Amino acid sequence: MAINIEDLRRLARRRLPRALFDFVDGGGGDEWSVRENRAAFERITFRPRVLVDVSKRDMTTTVLGQKLASPVVCAPTGMPGLLWPRGEVEAAKAAARVGSIYTLATRATCSIEEVAEAANGRVWFQVYVWQDRELTRKLVERAEAAGAKAMFLTVDVQVVSQRERDLRNGFTVPPKVTLKNATDTLRKVDWLWRMLRGPKITDRNFLGLSTRAGGSDLVRLGGYVNSLYDPSVDWDDFRWFRSLWKGPLVIKGITTAEDARLAVDHGADGVVVSNHGGRQLDYMPASIDALPEVVDAIGGRAEVLLDSGVRRGTDVVKALALGARACMVGRPYLWGLASGGQPGVERAITILNSEIDRTLALVGRPTLADLDPSAVRHAQRVASPAAIPAV
Ligand SMILES: Cc1cc2nc3c(=O)[nH]c(=O)nc-3n(C[C@H](O)[C@H](O)[C@H](O)COP(=O)(O)O)c2cc1C
Repeated sequence: MAINIEDLRRLARRRLPRALFDFVDGGGGDEWSVRENRAAFERITFRPRVLVDVSKRDMTTTVLGQKLASPVVCAPTGMPGLLWPRGEVEAAKAAARVGSIYTLATRATCSIEEVAEAANGRVWFQVYVWQDRELTRKLVERAEAAGAKAMFLTVDVQVVSQRERDLRNGFTVPPKVTLKNATDTLRKVDWLWRMLRGPKITDRNFLGLSTRAGGSDLVRLGGYVNSLYDPSVDWDDFRWFRSLWKGPLVIKGITTAEDARLAVDHGADGVVVSNHGGRQLDYMPASIDALPEVVDAIGGRAEVLLDSGVRRGTDVVKALALGARACMVGRPYLWGLASGGQPGVERAITILNSEIDRTLALVGRPTLADLDPSAVRHAQRVASPAAIPAV
């Protein structure tokens, strides 16, 4: 039985072909930022208050206008449908069922229309500004028509990073088939059987959007989409993008005060403090370490979310104490999905929720509104006496 998120990771490792497990688990370069995301959470400790009535606890919240059962939401991740047939639909249904919300990545095996319908419109959508601006506009219009409640623009994929585990495993488009990875894949019988019966895997949001792809299969369509990332995107493009989407707009991948200020000045309604789970630029600081600077710079003018390395309810409570409104999780729900489809994703979120509830009780802060920097000892905060109120 999975008692914690690490258990779900172990189950996923057992059930997935090695190349797929590594695709989810791995990061850029030396994977220093992947490890640092965890190490930084582990450096933060609590300052619990005792003899506080914590018999009535409440972790419900509202994020980007969306009522949530807890401050845990699903981050956008590319191609969950490789882990479980129609993985995006399964994850979105799971999130909706437990009062969370799923963010669909543009690169998905299910379309925005399918996912929005399955989750009763309880879905956010993530995009990039692609080289083909017309195609970008069409994706935004489709998300709006499908009823997506917020838009996340990811800005930290100027170029796709080099993930060395993927290269070694031949997990590339087109994939490299070797004796080793073919044998390993054939041994994961349950996964293989399930996937063979599932729908054809492709970059479904791009089907029919461009005649330049040269085919609808993952190799040709996926290869074409890979060529669409645009390293020239700048704040002028963001201004244009802002004019396309009237709903809540969040910039994902902000880690400095300078960019946080620019985001608000250019009309963002929120930012995600994120190093992309350590999957893009290696040697970025942990998101949790970048959080206080971004929170200070935003000064309450937009909502601040955090992701990267959240594995425990205690991590969520630490992030909220340091000013985040909610945490996004990526790998935790993907491991849940790989280990058991929709119920596995529900399990991942409910594990985190029960840990949050217990933590709120034990730190003597019964509601999320009671959390502030005084709840934690954080190297950057403890240095400032103002953060620790005199009692
Ligand atoms: C397999 C995988 C695919 C991802 N694909 C995307 C993507 O398409 N767009 C995006 O904005 N972020 C993507 N991310 C990053 C997540 O949105 C998020 O920032 C990250 O997973 C958070 O770290 P965590 O996995 O430690 O929770 C991906 C992450 C993973 C693990």
